[in-house]
Parts: sequence; structure tokens; C-alpha cells
Amino acid sequence: MSRVKASRFVCQACGFASTRWLGRCPNCQGWNTLVEERETSIPAGGRVRPGEGQPAEMVWLDNVPGANAPRLGTGLPEFDRVLGGGLVPGSFVLIGGDPGIGKSTLLLQAAATLSRTKPPVLYVSAEESAAQIKLRATRLGVPGQGLGVLATTQLEAVEAAIRKLKPAVAVVDSIQTLWSEGLGGAPGSVGQVRECAAHLTRIAKTDGVVLLVVCHVTKDGLLAGPRTLEHLADCVLEFEGDRHHLYRILRAVKNRYGSTSEIGVFEMTGAGLREVAELGDLFLPNDGSPLAGRAVAACMEGSRPLLVEIQALTATAAYGMPQRRASGLDSNRLAILLAVLEKRMGYRLGAADVFLNVAGGLLVEEPAADLAAAMAIVSAFKDRPLARAALVGEIGLSGEVRAVIHLDRRLEEAARLGFKHAVIPQANRDTLGAAPKGLEIEGAADLAQAVERALA
Ligand code: TYD
Ligand code: MG
Repeated sequence: MSRVKASRFVCQACGFASTRWLGRCPNCQGWNTLVEERETSIPAGGRVRPGEGQPAEMVWLDNVPGANAPRLGTGLPEFDRVLGGGLVPGSFVLIGGDPGIGKSTLLLQAAATLSRTKPPVLYVSAEESAAQIKLRATRLGVPGQGLGVLATTQLEAVEAAIRKLKPAVAVVDSIQTLWSEGLGGAPGSVGQVRECAAHLTRIAKTDGVVLLVVCHVTKDGLLAGPRTLEHLADCVLEFEGDRHHLYRILRAVKNRYGSTSEIGVFEMTGAGLREVAELGDLFLPNDGSPLAGRAVAACMEGSRPLLVEIQALTATAAYGMPQRRASGLDSNRLAILLAVLEKRMGYRLGAADVFLNVAGGLLVEEPAADLAAAMAIVSAFKDRPLARAALVGEIGLSGEVRAVIHLDRRLEEAARLGFKHAVIPQANRDTLGAAPKGLEIEGAADLAQAVERALA
């Protein structure tokens, strides 16, 4: 059957099709909604064939085999934890991250372990030559037995290699450099990426092979192909952390087989990624000496308590518009905290530049870190250090300190790290049982009480 290998651009919002790319859909006026798609012609002389494959048949859920298929361990417990306990056979796992963050290193380490426990494993590199991969493997000190290496950019070659080798796990590095003959357009174009990913997903499902696919993150932080890839994948993991920081954090953005609240922490060393199982005071760079603008938040990362230092700096704005910058914390959250501090506490922050930073390149998303962020700002603004204490609490718009969950785990971790003092929401204080040994706990009902208790 002959197919026309042309592509067209289809608006993902309204279905409008055009022969060339347009920034704005003339039909629905949506911006950047046109995506390149392969156009297949109806064969000459007639009717469209109903589906090419076998018609799908219903099965009883009870009779579906493989429900208990064991998960495959990657040899990196932190990686397994983020996956929800290892790789599920036949799953399509996407790993996104900035260039140079260590995606190839992580996957080569995992592939090397899997090639011993579950040989053979295929490592497809569309970016590096086999010699470069060998060089990295030597540097990592991993054996290469049972690990097949294929350096190609052709999707068809990858498919053929998987069909021939029948590996349990295959790594594809990266989806943006992969290219299919069947479709026009340069490698990395939205149409190519989507088509290649869809094809790989089918291979994963039909051949029961786990596909670990690297995906570069675009400038605006999206996985390529405006999030379309995320729908295809079973798991979407993000490897993050500043390239200049030692620590790398792997987190699940989507996981069909596990929770998305777990993180895995790694350290980049001269010989590859090393796991950091014991988080401890990793994100507490300050040795405890009193400095203005520093506060410690007792956070939860998934099921793990984690104490994190939040730093703030306030300065008189030099130019008209004061600047507000937050790194590691949502900037909308910062704006709300500043407004609450100004309105409820009377601090004149409206004319000040405010900078907020979370230590270690960590991204703190839970509202329970509000109290520490607010106290860091207060401390910087007053230029007075805080007492050394673990702070936890969500701040409401009227300046009230709201209760948080998992308080006992946060407090235990604080006590374990040698904290003697903690400020928690009053609502939690009222219901809290015994405090961990050596930890003095104070409750705060609102910001005013929190400031009183937190300042040294
Ligand atoms: P890499 O895995 O190539 O990143 P990605 O595939 O995400 O682009 O690793 C990138 C960085 O890691 C590179 O700058 C060098 C550093 N690195 C180490 O520090 N130690 C090592 O053992 C390896 C292999 C890399
Ligand atoms: Mg790479």
C-alpha cells in the first residue's frame, strides 16, 4: 500500500489543518497549537481498510495474566523508589532533564546493573558513538557484559534491534535525536518526536520490553512536543538540580505504577552518580551560627522528612519596581507571603527588593514551608537572626498559621538532627502527643506569635 510521506500541521485545539506551520491558528485563534502530523493517504481505488492489526478482544480482568509480574530492580534503590519499587515490564518511562544533568550517566549505570540481573539489555544512543559510551562505562567502572550498544539515530534500526535481541530493558538516548524515515521534518521536530515516541510505546507494549527514554527539556521547561509525550508515557521522571550543585534530584511527575511524591537524591561524583540514601542535613548548609535571613523548614519529600534551609534577602529597591525573585519556591507563593506580611504585620515590604532561595537546588512545593519562608523574610527585613529552630506551618491569607500533616515525622527528624526547638501551628500543638526527646515545641496561632517565638 503506498503512502504519501507528506506532513501537515494540525491545530491540537480545533483540528484545523494547514500545509505549513503557523504560530496562530486562523480558525480558533489559539497560539502555538499547530503540530506537525503525518498524513497518510487512502489507498487508490477505494475503501479504507479497517484496522490493520487483529481486532481487539475483550478479556475478563481476572483472567488477565501478568498482574504479579515482578518488578525489575535497577540496582539503584533511589531510582527504584521513584519508580514505585522498580521497573514494570512493558512500561515506557520518560526521563527528562536539562542537558548535562546526568541522564545518560544514570541510565548507563542502571543498564549495566540490569544487564547482569536481567540480560540482555540494549543501550541505544542517538547522541554518542559506541566508543564514547565505552569511555563513560570505563569511567563509571561498570562491566559491559550482556549490554548491547547501538549507536543510531534511526527509529527503524532501533525497532529491528529490539525485535532481534529481545531485551528485557532498552534505553533510548534521546528521543529528540531519533528520526523516523516515514515522516518528513528534522529530528527533534514535534512531529518526529511524537511519532517516534508513539512507535516506541507500541514496541514496549507489544514486546513487553521496558523502554527508558531520555527526553531533553525545552527552554521553557516543557518536555518536547508541548507535553504530548507525557500522555504517552507510563512514567515521567524529571532529573533536576542545578548543574552547579552536587546533588541531583529525581522525581516522578507522572507514574501509573506508583506515587509521584517520592524523590531520589544522587550525588555526582568523579565516578558517576552515587546515591544519597540518608538525607540528613544535606540541605542545611548553615552550621547553626545565627545569621539574619535564614530559616529552617521541616518539609516532607514524599514519605521522607527533610530539613531545608530557606534564605531571604531584602534590600531597598534601587529602581521604581521592586524585584521579587524566588528560587526553589513558587514565586506566586512568595507574592502572597509578602502581601500577608505587609497587611497583617505592617512590615513595609512593598518598596523592598525581596530574594528567596532554597538551599541545595531543591524545589519546595508544600505550603508547610510557608512559615519558614515568611520567617526568613522577617529576619532579613529586621536584620535580626532567628533562633535555631525547625519551623513548620502553612500561612493563610489572614495571617493565621494553619495545621500541617505528618507533624510527628517532621519533628522526629528535627530532633534527630540535633534541633532543640521547633515552632509549629497551634492547632497541631493542641493535638500533639508526646514530643520527641530533647525537642522543645512551641505553637503559633498567627504570624505575630510566630515572629515572637522564632526571632532570637
Ligand atoms: P551526562 O550523563 O552526559 O548528562 P546528560 O545525559 O543529562 O546530558 O553527564 C553530564 C555531566 O556529568 C558532565 O558534565 C560530566 C559529569 N560527570 C561526572 O561528573 N562524573 C561522571 O562519572 C560522569 C560520567 C559524568
Ligand atoms: Mg546525554
